[in-house]
Amino acid sequence: MKHFKTAIAGVAVTALLAGAAISGSHADPVTERQNIMKTYGASMGVLGGMAKGKMAYDAAKASEAAAALLAAASSDQSGFWVEGTQQGFADTSRAKISVWDMADDFAAKEQGLIDAATAMNAAAGESLAALQGAIGDVGGACAACHKAHRGPKN
Ligand code: HEC
Repeated sequence: MKHFKTAIAGVAVTALLAGAAISGSHADPVTERQNIMKTYGASMGVLGGMAKGKMAYDAAKASEAAAALLAAASSDQSGFWVEGTQQGFADTSRAKISVWDMADDFAAKEQGLIDAATAMNAAAGESLAALQGAIGDVGGACAACHKAHRGPKN
């Protein structure tokens, strides 16, 4: 009887985990990728704010923001850039069809951000001057991809 109860509990846990996995895979990919973009924006708010002198330079906060940016940029986003979710086909999406039609260019621009965020991650905690030296390439990497692959406001 004891074994039987344990087995039932095991099944319940497995079902719970399976449910979580299924709901995870069904999360809206457009919202997921927009949330990653929002974390980019939050990091850039701190780094850009310090670079422009709108916010006092704080090495620990700068390092934290740069590390968060690099982690988000390096994360596997393949599950969120799902074909058929371009602007006009999925609610709220502003992703141009070029994300998929020019996948090599999109991947190169993702890599461009990873490279710039890697340099920023090394610089941000060093000094304000080092942060300022790295910010242009990061902003440039955001802008390059938006210009090519992000559509007009919905
Ligand atoms: C490789 C391409 C690429 C790079 C690099 C990139 N973005 Fe984006 N970004 C997009 C696309 C495409 C969208 C539109 C996504 C959608 O609506 O489906 C977007 C949307 C956004 C949004 C709007 C999110 C929302 O709530 O709808 C913000 C904010 C943003 N990006 C900030 C940034 C910042 C800051 C950086 C640089 C640190 C950056 N992005 C780098 C492609 C990119």
